[in-house]
Amino acid sequence: MYFPSYRMRRLRQSAQMRNLVRETELLPDRLIFPLFVIHGQDVRNPIESMPGCFQLSINNLVDEAREVRELGIPGVILFGIPAEKDEAGTGAYDEEGIVQMAVAALKEEVPGLLVITDVCLCEYTSHGHCGIVKDGRVDNDITLEMLAKMAISHAQAGADIIAPSDMMDGRVAAIRTGLDSEGFSDTPVMSYAAKYASAFYGPFREAAGSTPEFGDRRSYQMDSRNSDEAMREVHLDIEEGADIVMVKPALPYLDIIHRVKQETKFPVAAYNVSGEFSMLKAASERGWLDERGAVLEALGAIRRAGADIIITYHAKDAARWLNE
Ligand code: PBG
Repeated sequence: MYFPSYRMRRLRQSAQMRNLVRETELLPDRLIFPLFVIHGQDVRNPIESMPGCFQLSINNLVDEAREVRELGIPGVILFGIPAEKDEAGTGAYDEEGIVQMAVAALKEEVPGLLVITDVCLCEYTSHGHCGIVKDGRVDNDITLEMLAKMAISHAQAGADIIAPSDMMDGRVAAIRTGLDSEGFSDTPVMSYAAKYASAFYGPFREAAGSTPEFGDRRSYQMDSRNSDEAMREVHLDIEEGADIVMVKPALPYLDIIHRVKQETKFPVAAYNVSGEFSMLKAASERGWLDERGAVLEALGAIRRAGADIIITYHAKDAARWLNE
């Protein structure tokens, strides 16, 4: 059973041979492209720390989403940059809010595109926290009502999947109950179940203007060194009604992705976050890495770990390469 009767290199001799025994598929239909939407007409503001990503006004967002669809990517996840922010983040559930209008436009103009919405208050609150602040602390239970309202307003606008990312306790149940009571019992919830307090969100906060004004998010997002706790978070979200569970970030947490898939067998999404994207972009721009090779390897590794769905800013490039 050992060398020389066994030779591992036999099945690596040609691309055809290697493809026959490849264990993991990486296809555009498992990718989701994140998009940032902002008020105005013909706006296309480059996000400096995320080369190739933009804050887009609705008309440009629609064009971008058409391109995404044509590349074989099934869906987008939307983040809104509101015109005004306030203490309570009221822009988050405004019927004519930026995300609500963007969802309606995408559903009308880009047939077949899955539109996922991020549900979290941090882009809408003046202090930049993911919930309502009371006596200097993010108040869990008051925030739940706002999140449910926000989710309902997204579903009313036509969102296909609701994705809460705030990490308040009980939010999946609050959102599920809210959606069901308004007739949206068929709208799935993709919960950011194991979301870590991470330095890798830096570029996103520039893109979405959501850096907290005081403190950090460690009182609600998870400690990066914990794994059992991630399983408790995931099991709670499943009990509360989550249809898809997410691990975020992705690459520094492949062990968590693997464990969640193994232990739950639920559909698992992984968020390949802004900092993970920017690292590869920056090194590629300097000629230190081959971008195509590094990106496809990273995304393949996330799939291999157990993710069914990958949310990634590389989605368009990856789809182009995979379609070649
Ligand atoms: C909102 C939210 C964040 C991200 C997705 N949803 C930022 C945060 O929690 O600070 C990060 C995404 C990324 O870095 O690409 N709460």
